[in-house]
Amino acid sequence: VDLYAVVGNPISHSKSPKIHGEFAVQSAENLEYMAIQAPVDEFSESVNAFFDNGGKGLNITVPFKEQAWSLSSQLSDRARLAGAVNTLYQNENGDICGENTDGIGLVRDLTVNHNVSLADKRILVLGAGGAVRGVLLPILEEKPASVTIANRTVAKAEQLAALFSGRGELIACGFDELSGSFDVIINGTSASLQGDLPPLPEGIINDTTIAYDMMYSADKTVFNRWAESCNAACTFDGLGMLVEQAAESFYIWRQVRVDTGPVLAMLRAFE
Ligand code: ATR
Repeated sequence: VDLYAVVGNPISHSKSPKIHGEFAVQSAENLEYMAIQAPVDEFSESVNAFFDNGGKGLNITVPFKEQAWSLSSQLSDRARLAGAVNTLYQNENGDICGENTDGIGLVRDLTVNHNVSLADKRILVLGAGGAVRGVLLPILEEKPASVTIANRTVAKAEQLAALFSGRGELIACGFDELSGSFDVIINGTSASLQGDLPPLPEGIINDTTIAYDMMYSADKTVFNRWAESCNAACTFDGLGMLVEQAAESFYIWRQVRVDTGPVLAMLRAFE
């Protein structure tokens, strides 16, 4: 049986073992998927031990995605620009290869599951931390009209815009500089984790605006409740993104495309 795992610290809350377990049953792939809590200062040792013992692939989560990026001998274009890696595997020479499937997971959730095209749209991304950097390239590859990155610390938004320059129309600003409404607004700040809301002007939302929170929780997130109160057309949370990034990792490891719908429905039922 082929062995896979998610590595993080803490890890007990991770839904990945359940998601990949369902994928394995559905596709009849002979694999086991476990959760590994690596000590904060022994990430690379944990990864090397896993692969030395014959492990086939890893997902990487908080706080190790940047370290996974650093220890990868090979990075895809997407992972390199993301500055973070959530999927590891070995190539035929035994080199550790890093990929980032978060952005493709977000894009697939929006475009396939929710039928929201990003092409030619005015997109607003809130936040400029690791989570946002990790998803920008796949968003830009959908050829939106523009992507505005708004952040509390404007310099960080400007750095991201510079990093992705040449890949699309990018604008960096602070929350108070936002004007006009957007077609799609994606919240990638960690503010929701503390139940906080960035100070956003109401005018960024109109009745056709789609609001997407990369966070998820059993109750509607603070950001999505705010968007609803501004009469946004729809609000979505990041649970679909979580399942889609997992499906993309599963594809990288097994070359099998799974049906994510039933797995997402199961997670919603247990939320
Ligand atoms: P992550 O890996 O989740 O992206 P991060 O790299 O620490 O974590 O980035 C957190 C993001 O959330 C940043 O954009 C941060 O804004 P700053 O760059 O100004 O710090 C944003 N953020 C966190 N708490 C926030 C709050 N209460 N209001 C607005 N933005 C917040």
